[in-house]
Amino acid sequence: MPLRGKHLLSINDLTVEEVDLILRTASSFREISTRPIKKIPTLRGKSIINLFYEPSTRTRSSFEIAAKRLSADALNINVSHSSASKGESLIDTGRNLQSLNPDVIVIRHSSAGAPQLLAQHCQYASIINAGDGMHEHPTQALLDALTIVDHKKQLVGLRVAIIGDITHSRVARSNVLLLKKMGAEICVCGPPTLIPMEYEQYGVTVTHELREALEDSDVIMMLRVQRERQKEVAYPSVKEYFMLYGLNKEKMRWAKPNTIIMHPGPINQGVEIDPELAEGKHSVILQQVTNGVSIRMAVLYLLLAGNEETD
Ligand code: CP
Repeated sequence: MPLRGKHLLSINDLTVEEVDLILRTASSFREISTRPIKKIPTLRGKSIINLFYEPSTRTRSSFEIAAKRLSADALNINVSHSSASKGESLIDTGRNLQSLNPDVIVIRHSSAGAPQLLAQHCQYASIINAGDGMHEHPTQALLDALTIVDHKKQLVGLRVAIIGDITHSRVARSNVLLLKKMGAEICVCGPPTLIPMEYEQYGVTVTHELREALEDSDVIMMLRVQRERQKEVAYPSVKEYFMLYGLNKEKMRWAKPNTIIMHPGPINQGVEIDPELAEGKHSVILQQVTNGVSIRMAVLYLLLAGNEETD
């Protein structure tokens, strides 16, 4: 069964069964990336536009690689060299790109809701949210879920600690929505200035004590301190932030021996995590990046297969 929706704008668009389907499809695609010729013809003749208004290393390149592994044509628009720099609105850009008949537009934008707006104005293409402001980053949460399942076998009943700058993190919101949906228990931890009140409503435990978050966790998800989005100073100094919320070898003694450490990247080395830990035996950070390709292959495949059935 393909996905019900035409777009992937939020984790709320997905049912438990659809999340399972995406994870299973991604697992089955994984093998393609290990072949000498890393390509199958499944999406031959389809075209995908990457429209990124914010910088990206992992997400943009893995969407491009995913499209190419499935034999789709991938076009990356460099927004700083596009007509957006001359003042063209997102709606006009979307309408014009729509006229080129792409099957999918993958969008990253600094404004929450930009992918939803694009979806309202693009009749034919599927829209994928690759991160909208401080709102959501659904494919990141899906690749995180795949990585967790790789190590912990299932999501039901797992204890996941999400630590750091929760306020500015679209990764945190998408992960909370997905992991709660799939039956995990979540604890969010950070300075009071970096955890919004709304998280209480998500049914997660909120703490400002790192030790409380680390004890009993099966998964530790560290978040980047997003200095570019902070309008006010949220903590006295980097040194103090690291002392209270940065992960290092000493604080890892509070965690269980088989806990895994995740980070969506990019990392502020030495701010939220000690580089030694980011590269250490608990870290699955680079596996997250690898899983990004399989997840994006699965999402592209399932959205386009869904469209074809509908057509
Ligand atoms: N995790 C993530 O979204 O990384 P990029 O900003 O490099 O895409």
